[in-house]
Amino acid sequence: MNNLSIIVSSTRPQRVGGHVTAWVRETLGADWDITVLDLAEINLPFIDEDMPAGSGIYTQPHTLAWKEKIDAADAIVVVNPEYNGFFPAPLKNAIDYLLAEWENKPMAVVGYGFGGGARSAAALTELLQNVKANVVGSLGLFFNTDLSPTGELTVTPGKTEELRALSLQLDAALGDELAA
Ligand SMILES: Cc1cc2nc3c(=O)[nH]c(=O)nc-3n(C[C@H](O)[C@H](O)[C@H](O)COP(=O)(O)O)c2cc1C
Repeated sequence: MNNLSIIVSSTRPQRVGGHVTAWVRETLGADWDITVLDLAEINLPFIDEDMPAGSGIYTQPHTLAWKEKIDAADAIVVVNPEYNGFFPAPLKNAIDYLLAEWENKPMAVVGYGFGGGARSAAALTELLQNVKANVVGSLGLFFNTDLSPTGELTVTPGKTEELRALSLQLDAALGDELAA
């Protein structure tokens, strides 16, 4: 079974992101071997490498540990809230630590927010495309329709179908990558 890593990008103690992650895990758990990469636990400092990631020279133990986690992921879902129209700062920091590791990585975005996290997902997609990830798509959970602002899940069946469709796209992209 292929590995799917879920990056939890919100780091607030009382976050909704954990509930959204649980939904992704439950919906896709039969199809993938799932690993959760929780940025709150991983706790990367602000980037502190001497060389830019494009050099491929990593010296800090936390960079090497993060690289290992991303290398081990066959595909990645980012669980992504919207903060002032963008994705959270710890996620930008975590992405900037690496470069080649993102290239061709099959990735999807599961956003959430009052507008489904659409602006944040669009900004994140642009960033992921800049680092040459293979972004297969995104979906958005809407507060007061799919979940409450405190994280109770009321996800509509259509969203579950969207998530399954994204999962199939990730799987297909993985096949493409393996064949390349
Ligand atoms: C700093 C900050 C900025 C926010 N900006 C937005 C926003 O632009 N759009 C939106 O829909 N919700 C916004 N919200 C509300 C979040 O969608 C909501 O708090 C959500 O639970 C955040 O995800 P988290 O609980 O996993 O951190 C913001 C919340 C915070 C903490």
